[in-house]
Amino acid sequence: MTSSRAYLSDLFSLDDRTAVVTGGSSGIGRAVAGALARAGARVVVVARKKEGLASTVEELTADGCRAAWVSGDLSTRDGVRAAAEEAAAVFGEPDILVNCAGINLRPPMGELGEDVWDTTMAVNLDAPFLLGQRFGPGMAERGFGRIIHITSQQAHRAFVQSGAYGVSKGALESLARSQAEAWSPYGVTCNTLVPGFVMTPLNARLSSDPDRVAALAARTMTGRNGVAEDFAGAAVFLASRASGYVTGQSIHVDGGFSVH
Ligand SMILES: NC(=O)c1ccc[n+]([C@@H]2O[C@H](COP(=O)([O-])OP(=O)(O)OC[C@H]3O[C@@H](n4cnc5c(N)ncnc54)[C@H](OP(=O)(O)O)[C@@H]3O)[C@@H](O)[C@H]2O)c1
Repeated sequence: MTSSRAYLSDLFSLDDRTAVVTGGSSGIGRAVAGALARAGARVVVVARKKEGLASTVEELTADGCRAAWVSGDLSTRDGVRAAAEEAAAVFGEPDILVNCAGINLRPPMGELGEDVWDTTMAVNLDAPFLLGQRFGPGMAERGFGRIIHITSQQAHRAFVQSGAYGVSKGALESLARSQAEAWSPYGVTCNTLVPGFVMTPLNARLSSDPDRVAALAARTMTGRNGVAEDFAGAAVFLASRASGYVTGQSIHVDGGFSVH
């Protein structure tokens, strides 16, 4: 009889896989990077600030994981290209790409200028597209790949001045479907994880208002807001062999927020 450990390992182990996680130095990305690394993957985290990157990698290596960081600015196309090459040079071409780096600038729609629009699209949409173009075809050629984008409930509904942010996340879900259509026949699945409200530095202002936080928690079915660690299991599932027949999907990890 197969032991449960061997069975679970066959389904979910990421041993011998290599992952690149953008935004892996903070919040949801940091939790996802940790989950993939603890499930066996070699993980490269990409973001701008070296302090958060270094402390993430320190934590993971202290835990016996293989991890490294690349500092890069994903708001310019040259920055994305440079970061991609640097990331691939560490442990080799990735089997798993997680696009988690994101920004949420919230000017009221009437005041939303071209600068905010351009920066939002550059980080939240152009970078995932360019990284997909860089790594997707190689994954398809090797016969295995996993592309995971982190979107938002704002891909589905207007919420607290969605502005450019909601548009970028809606497009990112469409990108996942286009990538799934192109590369799933070659073993590369492309999906998105859709957070509700998660207490991270991204929404520090909203998180500092206890009444708003309580009201948002009440809108879930589980009665609480999300924490970054809520994404660990779903990320490992989408990165693993187990999810080979799941592609082009948007999977809400939101305590039921989206269906309440
Ligand atoms: N928290 C929520 O409630 C929530 C809800 C829905 C969706 N999301 C999505 O989840 C993802 C992660 O968000 P989070 O809440 O975990 O936010 P976070 O803690 O602020 O993390 C954002 C990450 O993105 C990196 N980043 C930002 N701009 C970058 C740039 N120009 N180049 C490279 N890296 C950049 C940041 O590092 P540096 O600043 O060092 O570059 C950081 O690692 C985002 O895509 C966000 O839209 C979050």
